[in-house]
Amino acid sequence: MAALFTYEKKVKINLTKSMRYMCGFVCGAAIFIVASNAIAQVVRAPANATTKLAKEAAPNTAVARLLNVVSNENFECGMQAGWDTPCLRESYQGTPEHWPRPVIDSGKFWQEMTGVPDVQPPANAKDAAKRALGAALFFDPGLSRKGGVACASCHQSDKSFGDGLALSVGEDKLMGRRRAQTLFAAPFADKLFWDGRAGSLEEQSKGSIQNPFEMNNTLDTAVAHVNAQPQYKTLMNTAYGLQSISVDDMVAAIASFVRTVRPPKTVADQVIAGDTKVLTDQQLLGLHLFRTKARCMNCHSGPLLTDNEFHDIGLSFYSRRNQDLGRFEATRDKDDLGKFRTPSLRGVIHAGPWMHNGLFPDMPGLMRLYNVGMGVVGGDPAKDPYIPSKSSHMKAIQLNAQEIDALVEWLRVL
Ligand code: HEC
Ligand code: HEC
Repeated sequence: MAALFTYEKKVKINLTKSMRYMCGFVCGAAIFIVASNAIAQVVRAPANATTKLAKEAAPNTAVARLLNVVSNENFECGMQAGWDTPCLRESYQGTPEHWPRPVIDSGKFWQEMTGVPDVQPPANAKDAAKRALGAALFFDPGLSRKGGVACASCHQSDKSFGDGLALSVGEDKLMGRRRAQTLFAAPFADKLFWDGRAGSLEEQSKGSIQNPFEMNNTLDTAVAHVNAQPQYKTLMNTAYGLQSISVDDMVAAIASFVRTVRPPKTVADQVIAGDTKVLTDQQLLGLHLFRTKARCMNCHSGPLLTDNEFHDIGLSFYSRRNQDLGRFEATRDKDDLGKFRTPSLRGVIHAGPWMHNGLFPDMPGLMRLYNVGMGVVGGDPAKDPYIPSKSSHMKAIQLNAQEIDALVEWLRVL
């Protein structure tokens, strides 16, 4: 416990430093430098030309943000001074295909919001036993080297199957470098982990059992533990017709359980099923912003509110102590620098602290960062080809304080 506490303290120090770095340095110095250069141009050039220049040359700079005012009037039910609530009520009736179309960049893959597909009932008794064995193993700390850490230690149902920590703590209190993912997207994704390095849930389970920062075990020792437990004999026999199983059978059972993990039903499910009256005016505005002005559905779409693709949203912390180059570390492809898999937003409010490194414990604060287009990596890509480049789908969205609050209220009911 004492060790855990020290870790937590370390994480907090980490956090304040990086937050200060991100918003102190980036939003301060960078904006100042870029702004002073461009302001020099503003004086000389006519206003519309400058706006054009700022947009074309540097769509993500602070000046472009200042000049590129996002008017509510560009969106359905938007008024110069706010939003027309009766119009929103009128527009959001019935199921999502009848709602205002989301704002999606041209060519971007997206899917409409829908309910999460139900778990298929087991095909037969064998299948049912395999799932039941997988569930039991998911909660069994005996799979770890010293018997202290189960899958469920880091994937807790009341935390959307995350663990509530910034960075996961495994056997021997060793702290990994990433936050435990929620498991809602996992049954539907073909590339797992934040960086997509596992191609199946079976492969992922093997990784978790062996990872020194997770269960720190060998696969052979883990399966020997399973085979030595009398309480698993009946299930093993029904599932595989055997009294003792192989490593592949073991991970197949765990994976068959993970495939049945679904988010709990929420207000969002009622809304998606067409009952939009359950939303307060504020939540309704949040939903509308999520789909339109805030541009979230470019990446967070479909039943799980993820495209299951990889994007650099500016959180690689390139060349700093917290550097994590994400998908690049799995593929070594420069196009993947700084990219992480879009997480599901189902149950997101219970899943914090957020992002791959758990650096963001405060949802309104996180939305304020999205509001300015997230982090910026400095440096000259001509001189350093490894500088990650932020996704073109990330833009300053220019919400005001009430709109940020509304967006957060919508995130709370997902
Ligand atoms: C010490 C904490 C810890 C333990 C124990 C643990 N995990 Fe995880 N899990 C994590 C972390 C951290 C990640 C993200 C790792 C990464 O992306 O590098 C993760 C990722 C996953 C993912 C990927 C989800 C996705 O959408 O890509 C699945 C599935 C998963 N774990 C299941 C399991 C199973 C099954 C077990 C037990 C065999 C297990 N985990 C044990 C911390 C843990
Ligand atoms: C370009 C794609 C993209 C867009 C647009 C986008 N996101 Fe994300 N989102 C991501 C990725 C990728 C991550 C994970 C990044 C990481 O961990 O480094 C993420 C993480 C999050 C998280 C943290 C979830 C968790 O479990 O840690 C929240 C909350 C979130 N996004 C909400 C939003 C909202 C609200 C919007 C609209 C304002 C939005 N996102 C727009 C790609 C996107």
